[in-house]
Amino acid sequence: MDLAERLDRLGTETAFAVSAAAADWAARGNRVYPFHLGDINLPTPANIVEAMNEAIAAGKTGYCAAAGIAPLREALATNIGSDRGIEVGPANIVVQPGGKPVITKFIQTLMNPGEGVLYPNPGYPIYESQICYFGGRLLPYRYHETPTGFGIDLDQLRELAPQARLLIYNNLQNPLGCESSAEEMAEIAALAVEHDLWVMSDEAYFEMRYSGTSTSIASLPGMAERTVILYTFSKKFAMTGWRLGCAAAPVPVAEQIAKLNTNDESCTTHFVQAAGVEAAILAELERRRDAAIDALAAVPGVHCAKPEATFYLFPNVTEAVARTGFDTVTDFATAALHNTGVSFCTRHHFGSAQPEEREHYIRLAYSGISAEDITEGIGLLAKWMASA
Ligand SMILES: Cc1ncc(COP(=O)(O)O)c(C=O)c1O
Repeated sequence: MDLAERLDRLGTETAFAVSAAAADWAARGNRVYPFHLGDINLPTPANIVEAMNEAIAAGKTGYCAAAGIAPLREALATNIGSDRGIEVGPANIVVQPGGKPVITKFIQTLMNPGEGVLYPNPGYPIYESQICYFGGRLLPYRYHETPTGFGIDLDQLRELAPQARLLIYNNLQNPLGCESSAEEMAEIAALAVEHDLWVMSDEAYFEMRYSGTSTSIASLPGMAERTVILYTFSKKFAMTGWRLGCAAAPVPVAEQIAKLNTNDESCTTHFVQAAGVEAAILAELERRRDAAIDALAAVPGVHCAKPEATFYLFPNVTEAVARTGFDTVTDFATAALHNTGVSFCTRHHFGSAQPEEREHYIRLAYSGISAEDITEGIGLLAKWMASA
């Protein structure tokens, strides 16, 4: 058959062939232990599924804006910006059917045929496929084993950088599972600035970590204006099959990516986007909860459990009230407001106290305050308590 010649340059995810072989082996009655899957065998959280059902019932089944619906772009801007400590507005966000389309759209928007693209190898196979497909020059950079995992061969990267126009960087790496040290990331950012490279930061696994915090290369000096972030709901919310993600990019690039959306898929499924708003809001609230719990741990005389639901904390402040010498938790709350500006309700706002109650509690709602203000405010409370 006479197919288009460029298809000779299109690669694929050969890992899917491993799935087929395993499925075939299982179909013949054999036990298979599936370590080949990059999918998640956990359900999408129920509230996200409910939000999607409600969106369908509400008729959100037609076309919508190519760049994404406004509430989702706003929620993603807040979420991506605050998690990474960078300024992101809705105009920077272009919703996509998954994270993967960001790879092709980054290349289509910023690479001319013949231009060099640095990309990780071993790495996610779609990078190589798309660079080849659009006629770019492959500039793979390698990793070496370190005592704690893998590191990028910076000498090789330095040597190749003058030939490149684009750099693909996948920190929290598939398949290596590794993460750049602060020094390695700073070195890569410096190279990108020095050689005026456009960078795609594939952050598919930004939130998938068991300790510590992730850093985005976009937050380093000189990087926000040259970086397109690949963001996806797939792994973070166990939504691989829903196909929802976005590009977070400088506005002129975002506008071109939105134009590609119009050409390719018109828009990402409307009701899936509506469910994404629910998911993005939850992620932000989780961040605030964690910020509040961390900050409260440093306040003398305060104890608080870490709830898995709602957006309220109900810390026990019995010892704190005693330390500050107040008779009632109401006086404690008033003094806290006047000394630190931190304002909260107390147990007494939630029904009459029972006669046997001896402990004092306050209620902190974190739905209307940013994670940064949570840390700052509770920090002031800690200082005040320490001096009491
Ligand atoms: C490094 C990396 N980038 C991007 C993707 C694509 O994710 P999505 O399912 O959101 O398209 C994956 C998926 O496995 C990945 O491992």
